[in-house]
Amino acid sequence: MTGKLITLEGVDGAGKSTHIPLIADLLRAKNVEVILTREPGGTALGEKLRELLLHETMSADTETLLMFAARREHIEQVIQPALTRGAWVLSDRFTDASFAYQHGGRGVAAEKLRSLETWVQGALQPDLTVLFDLPVEISCQRLAGARDPDRFEQENTAFFQRIRDAYLERAAKFPQRFRVIDANRSVSKIQDELKQIISML
Ligand code: TMP
Repeated sequence: MTGKLITLEGVDGAGKSTHIPLIADLLRAKNVEVILTREPGGTALGEKLRELLLHETMSADTETLLMFAARREHIEQVIQPALTRGAWVLSDRFTDASFAYQHGGRGVAAEKLRSLETWVQGALQPDLTVLFDLPVEISCQRLAGARDPDRFEQENTAFFQRIRDAYLERAAKFPQRFRVIDANRSVSKIQDELKQIISML
C-alpha cells in the first residue's frame, strides 16, 4: 500500500493558503487518511529551522542546505511513514520551491540542488504538484499589504519574477505531475478547477 504525495507551489502572495482547506476536504472525501504539512517545517526540528530560514541573515548556500536538512527530517519523520501506511500527504511546498527560490531567486547552481535532491529524497517525487501561477505585479501588490514580512517576502519584484519563471520552467520540464493554475481569477473559479484536478486522482 502506498499513498500519494501532493505538493502546492507558487510565489509568495499567490494565494495557495486560501485553497488548502478545500483541497484537504476534497482528498478526505476520497476516504483516505490525509496528512496536511508544510515546508520548511512539518516536524519539530523543521519548524525551528523554518524560524531561522525566515528571519536570520545567511548565505544562499546555507539557506539551501538548511532547506534540504529540514526536508530530510520531514521525509524521514512524516512523509515516508505516511506514504508507507497508505496515507495521502498534502504538503504546502516541497523541492520545486528550492529550485524556484534558491536556484531561480538566489542563483545557487541547479547542479548543487540536484545532488541534494538525490541525497535527501532518493527516488521520491510528488505524484501531483499544483502550481498557483500569478503575475508578479499582483503577488507583490498583495505582499505590500502584509504585516511583518519575512526575509523572503521583503524581496523585490525582480526576485519574484525569477521565481515565477523558474516555477514555470519546472512545470514545463515535468508536465506529467504539474498542473498550473491561473491564480489571477476569483476564488470560486480556482476552486472549480481544483475540484476537477483532484477528481482525476
Ligand atoms: P510559505 O510562505 O509558503 O510558508 O514558505 C515560506 C518561505 O520559504 C517562502 O517564501 C518560500 C520559501 N522557501 C524556499 O525558499 N525554499 C524552499 O525549498 C521552501 C520549501 C520554501
